[in-house]
Amino acid sequence: MTSSHPVPVRAIVLYGRASFDQGQNVKALAAALADLHAARGETVTMRTAHADLCGPALPAVLAELERAGVTEALVIPSMVPADPSLSAWLPGALSHWAGTQGAGMTVRLAPPVESALDLPAALDRIAAGPAERLADVRETDPSLGKPGWSAIPEHGRQVFVCVGARCLHRGADALYQRLREAMKGHRALNAGPRRVMCARTSCLYPCNRGPLLVVQPDAVWYGDLTPERIDRIVHDHLLTGCPSKEDVLHRNPPPEETAMG
Ligand code: FES
Repeated sequence: MTSSHPVPVRAIVLYGRASFDQGQNVKALAAALADLHAARGETVTMRTAHADLCGPALPAVLAELERAGVTEALVIPSMVPADPSLSAWLPGALSHWAGTQGAGMTVRLAPPVESALDLPAALDRIAAGPAERLADVRETDPSLGKPGWSAIPEHGRQVFVCVGARCLHRGADALYQRLREAMKGHRALNAGPRRVMCARTSCLYPCNRGPLLVVQPDAVWYGDLTPERIDRIVHDHLLTGCPSKEDVLHRNPPPEETAMG
């Protein structure tokens, strides 16, 4: 039995962030873009994929489109600000997917949407461009990464900043930006053996003490963060290696003290 709703040949995949999207909602963008197509009497299959935290990831979305009979998918990176690392990685990764999956579907990668007051209109302009000017991703050498990405960068510490729901509610995002800003002016924290690598994480559990962060490998937890406390953490702990006692929420004992036997 044939379907009364023929599957469109072309599909658009908006590739956005699951979080940290500065208020963008990739699903809402996809709906707005579909409306613009509908207003012109055009039908398009629209999907969204996430670049971080949670799926669906691009390979799963593309595989589903191929199974549905789509013959050409246009992937539009839809995060503002654009992630510059994507242009170095995504073409090869999509080519790798197409090669290893034996995909018959043509996959084209659009340039990322730039910051715009009217994001749906900006996406529409990208989507409306002639698809043929964008090469099939198979024309790029397949690669899941870049050579330099196999090495762990030289560093001395890692800082994990919780941006789970409760910490975010208490201002974690602005505090994370404050941390990055405070570190910027200190060369030693950005390269070499004392480099500090920062990452945002989901809930670390003591939510009532949020916003909070953990400095590793020192196993030092800081809670009830404020901009002033962030500045002290950068100066006292990250730069001079001496966490100020009044700021420390918890410090794990060294592993040898907790080892069994
Ligand atoms: S949300 Fe940050 S510790 Fe739970």
